Amino acid sequence: MSDTSSNVVWHHATVTRQRREELNGHKSVILWFTGLSGAGKSTLAHAVEEELHQKGCRTFVFDGDNVRHGLCGDLTFTIDDRKENIRRIGEMTKLFLEAGVISLTAFISPMREDRERVRSLVPHGDFLEVYCRCGIETCESRDVKGLYKKARAGEIPEFTGISSPYEAPEDAEIVVDTDKLSLEESVEMVLARLCERGIIPGGCND
Ligand code: ADX
Repeated sequence: MSDTSSNVVWHHATVTRQRREELNGHKSVILWFTGLSGAGKSTLAHAVEEELHQKGCRTFVFDGDNVRHGLCGDLTFTIDDRKENIRRIGEMTKLFLEAGVISLTAFISPMREDRERVRSLVPHGDFLEVYCRCGIETCESRDVKGLYKKARAGEIPEFTGISSPYEAPEDAEIVVDTDKLSLEESVEMVLARLCERGIIPGGCND
């Protein structure tokens, strides 16, 4: 698929990203959570959002399970459809970046190349990969949605970590060992990184 449509000219806004960020009192950024199903991506993304919201930040969570009911409801779990899933979300988060929002995405996004493509859509430093590192044994033992059991029984084809690959990040900006840290500790870690990078204001040890 081409990146650009023909005969369409970009219209420049007078209300820029910078002006929106000034109004908001914080920078916008894409926090891209990646990890196996059951690694805690959604839980952590929503918990980070809760803290940010309480601090007065503009935020939005894109959650794989929700997005696949609507915007990406036509997609399956083949490698190609996952690529398209990530491409669409990447383009959405790029718009949210311009809108001055801190977007948090919770998609397995198993292929390194697909994540790197999203990274390359936006200026350096605006895409932060948050690797929710959790062994498959732990994800499988939790099996919150009962999907691992079904996958093992051969009822779900191409299930990540079982019959479909997961390529772990090699150089994620933030690595959270979700099978070792508490949710509170994980949230603190992400917020501290945002503070250190000057995305959100304030004392970084609050
Ligand atoms: S991604 O690979 O395209 O990034 P996404 O995060 O949107 O996946 O969706 C993953 C969620 O869909 C899982 O948490 C799980 O609940 C559900 N799911 C259903 N089928 C599969 C499958 N074959 N592999 C992985 N997750 C699946």
